[in-house]
Parts: sequence; structure tokens; C-alpha cells
Amino acid sequence: MDIQDLADIARQMVAPGKGIIAIDESNKTIKKRFDGVGIECTEDNRRAYREMLLTTPNLGDHISGAILYDETLRQSTKAGKRFVDVMAAAGILPGIKVDLGPVGLAGFPGEVVTEGLDGLRQRLKEYVSLGARFAKWRAVITIGEDMPSAACIDANCHALARYAALCQEAGIVPMVEPEVLMDGDHDIETCYDVTEATLRSLYNALYEHNVVLEGTILKASMVIAGKDCEEQADAEEVAEATLMCLRAAVPASVPGIVFLSGGQSDADATAHLNVMNQMGPHPWPLSFSYGRAMQSAALKLWARDIAGNIAAAQETVALRARENGLAALGKWSKELAA
Ligand code: 13P
Repeated sequence: MDIQDLADIARQMVAPGKGIIAIDESNKTIKKRFDGVGIECTEDNRRAYREMLLTTPNLGDHISGAILYDETLRQSTKAGKRFVDVMAAAGILPGIKVDLGPVGLAGFPGEVVTEGLDGLRQRLKEYVSLGARFAKWRAVITIGEDMPSAACIDANCHALARYAALCQEAGIVPMVEPEVLMDGDHDIETCYDVTEATLRSLYNALYEHNVVLEGTILKASMVIAGKDCEEQADAEEVAEATLMCLRAAVPASVPGIVFLSGGQSDADATAHLNVMNQMGPHPWPLSFSYGRAMQSAALKLWARDIAGNIAAAQETVALRARENGLAALGKWSKELAA
């Protein structure tokens, strides 16, 4: 696969009016989500839940790709059809989470660095053979007193660059995700500064590691006040700050930017994306790669009756896909989505 093929896949991922559904929770994270709704975290419940999501009728209308966890990439529907085949039939590209999660960064209490580079070349080979077309790696940047350190930002971006280079070598599109967490009481200006510093470090590292930006996707966090900050910015402010930050730090050769929801409400995640797109045109398509903001309504419904509520839960998935697909065009309104 040459770089042109990677660029084609990247463009498909951010096709107009389409975005990504992130269902790549590790078994530890999905257990937390299941615990929250009283569902036992067994392999079969995880499989049934992901089957419900992936078999949502017409999901491909607004969803270009789905990020899966290792276990999910290998699973099948109850009737025995591989999830990757279900996705292919719906025109949805399979993605795979390839990082192994954050661990404490030695020497920097409270900060983390993402692990998973050892053996990644081999794992990527297998993921490609299983049908994955893009791969995600999430770095976590925490804002706090004297945090993040430059060392933490650079260690995480160095790892992102090494993973992205390995992805391109393996013929799979890297979706690079430096997430600046919403946890804390910091204001939006602080989030701006940290996000800009992180993105600058990221693109510096990607350049140094010979990563071809045309064959990548950026998964970004929005510039937004911390969850516990008394002063919350409105949608216009979030959109303006995020756009200014992206323009300052992300090269125009990047084929697309998708946002994580990061703990925003469903309504905020959609409204922020919509306002940003209304402020266009921009150098890149701006779309979504939401986890919680795509799934939370469906998870609650499904959990109440996992065999009986499948269609009702899928309706919410389809609605969230439609709403966010419209927001990716700057055309969302409650009335239109309904
Ligand atoms: P959220 O949208 O729930 O933040 O999840 C997206 C994701 O993939 C985080 O890595």
C-alpha cells in the first residue's frame, strides 16, 4: 500500500457529512460503563453490546468508520457473521485501538505516558490481516498545578510519532489522538495554551519521524474550560478558540480532523462541532469521532433489556449519527435531525 492509498482512506474517513463512532473501550473501560448501568462485563455481553451498535440500520449513512478494541475486531454477531464483514457491508471502515493505555510517567507524579510501542510492528501486521484500515493511539495530557510538563508532552508526542510511522509502514492510517483532558477547574485560556503546545510538539515529532501527514487523521480535543471551572464558555467561544488553536498548529496537509467528546454532553458535542463548521471554510474537514457522545443514550436503553431493547437503542445510535453528521456539515438543528 502506498501513501496515496492511505490518503484515500483518510479522505473516506472524513467524507462530507460522515464521522467515526468510537467503540474501542478497553475491557477495563467498558466495565466501568457497564457497571454504571448494572450490566455484567462478560465477553458475551460486550459482544452483544457491540453487535447492537454495529448492526444499527443505515449506520453507514453518517458513519464512515468505527474504532474497535482488539477483542471486538475478532468477534462476530450471534448469528456468526464477523463484525468486520458487517461493517464492510455497511460501508464502514474498521479501525483498531492499538495503544495499551496510559501509565504513570516516572519522575512526574500525576502525569501519564501511553504505552504500546513494543511489538507494535507485529501487532499492526495482524490487525491489517484482520481487516483494520486505520489505527488509533491516544495520548493523555492532564492539566493541573505545574502540569503538563514539557517532558510529558514531548514523551507522549514522541510515542505518537513512532506509532504513526509504524502504521504507515504497515499500510494503515494512523489516527493520532493527543487528548487534553477536561478534568479540573482550569479556564479555557489554559486549555488553549496546553492544546497549542501539545499540537506543536506533535507535528514537530511527526515531521522528525518522516510521517506523511497526507496519510494521517488528527483526533483532537476541543479547546474548552475544565469541567469544574466556574466560568464555562458558550458554543461560539469554544468554536472560536478551537479553530484558532488548530489553525495555529495543524498543517493544512492533514486530510481531516475529528473530535473526541471527552465527557461533554451529547448536546454540547454536537453544537460545538456544528458551530465550528458554520464558521468555515477551514483548511480541513472537521468531523467527529465520538465515543460517549454517540453511545450514552443507547447504552442506557440497551441495559434496561438487553434482548428486548435492541431496536430502541439502535434508534438512538442512528439519531446521534444523523445529528453529528449534520453538525459535520454545519447544518445541524434539532428540527432537521428529528
Ligand atoms: P469520547 O468521545 O467518549 O471521549 O471517546 C472518544 C475516544 O475514542 C477517546 O479515546
